Amino acid sequence: MCLPEVIAIDGPSASGKSTIGHMLAQALGYLFLDTGSMYRAVTLAALQANIDVMDETAVTQLARQIDIDIQPPGNMQDGRLYTVLLNGKDVTWELRSPAVDTHVSLISSYPGVREEMVLHQRQYGQRGHVVMVGRDIGTVVMPDAPLKLYITASPAERARRRWLDRQKQGHNTDYETILADVLRRDEIDSNRKHSPLRPAEDAILIDTTQKPAETILQEILELAHTHCR
Ligand code: DC
Repeated sequence: MCLPEVIAIDGPSASGKSTIGHMLAQALGYLFLDTGSMYRAVTLAALQANIDVMDETAVTQLARQIDIDIQPPGNMQDGRLYTVLLNGKDVTWELRSPAVDTHVSLISSYPGVREEMVLHQRQYGQRGHVVMVGRDIGTVVMPDAPLKLYITASPAERARRRWLDRQKQGHNTDYETILADVLRRDEIDSNRKHSPLRPAEDAILIDTTQKPAETILQEILELAHTHCR
């Protein structure tokens, strides 16, 4: 039975792509690589170093210096899908803070930051057996991936999911603020000059608004067996 070495999943924030990507990786025994966490790690590093997030040169330099490592969660049983080490320190949950949310779209729009992260992502891709999730995986990072998916959901549903996540993490942000943030980030991610969010021409579109994750997983597993080489 043949399977794609790399499965590329793109889509807007809170579309369900991480949940589904993780389930898929588990089902196939693949590494789950959430590339958004890399841009979040750069953002956190800039905030921690008190670097002005508008200072593109300083942020880009920082992106080249820091060490980001993404690993399976091991025996950490706190709901994480993976562990992110920033310069050796576990920052998995700090990456989800409202401060990182606010600035990550800007920082991920810097071409020098993207260049650095893409190099890193391709190294994971070359090792194979990876489900890679992001915004530009099918279009830029792994354009030759045998299976490319573009996962979406309505903005209202995505805001509802993010609101639930926030509640679980103990952040009390109201729904309207989250919806406004989801729309603002869609706008930045889709309209930025470098590697904007869009489906690859040969990506398969999946809408998760009203479909349970388990059903979608089964559909993707079927696709995986027909999209390999
Ligand atoms: O998926 P996420 O919300 O964790 O992504 C955080 C930010 O990083 C988001 O603003 C889009 C950006 N991103 C990107 O530009 N390219 C990727 N491959 C992944 C994320």
